[in-house]
Amino acid sequence: MEYKIVVLGGGGVGKSALCIQYIMKKFIEEYEPTQADQYRMQTTVDGESCYLEILDTAGQEDFGAIQDQYVEKGDGFLLVFAVDSEPSFKDIQQLHDRIMTVKEQSHFPILICANKDDLDTSQHIISKQQVADLCSKWNCQSKETSAKTRQNVDESFQEIVREIRRQ
Ligand code: GTP
Ligand code: MG
Repeated sequence: MEYKIVVLGGGGVGKSALCIQYIMKKFIEEYEPTQADQYRMQTTVDGESCYLEILDTAGQEDFGAIQDQYVEKGDGFLLVFAVDSEPSFKDIQQLHDRIMTVKEQSHFPILICANKDDLDTSQHIISKQQVADLCSKWNCQSKETSAKTRQNVDESFQEIVREIRRQ
């Protein structure tokens, strides 16, 4: 099986860092805005082999026509925000609505990544409760991730594969 996973979220939240940490097991410290990057890899989830096509999108673009093109292709989505950024939390809500509109569904495989969890708690602006509220509203899961420490990076990609398989 082959699954297309699209990574969406605002600029600078760590989409590329998560993809690169997952695929290449290293942390990219410097920030270079993405236009669009695509990766293909083979992995095993729950004992079942599969190919992943991972699409790392541009957060700085306006969420417009370009994004829709990616949304159409996706079998599942990682919606990434950064725990120190209120606007990025709003962005994922806009993106969620866009996914459901484009897919003409009320539910689709998505997973929320609350990224940069390694930052000092004093920098955490979005609370666990706010994330939990979104998860119950959307009937989806979330992971507290860090592309820096690798916390929940593999788990996020594995879980979205499970969601797609359950679909
Ligand atoms: P666009 O491509 O513009 O949409 O941004 P992006 O979401 O791909 O962000 P990127 O992965 O380039 O990361 C932006 C900056 O945040 C970089 O300097 C990263 O090193 C940093 N960063 C990413 N993830 C983490 C994380 O989990 N923790 C910390 N502390 N920094 C992170
Ligand atoms: Mg990027």
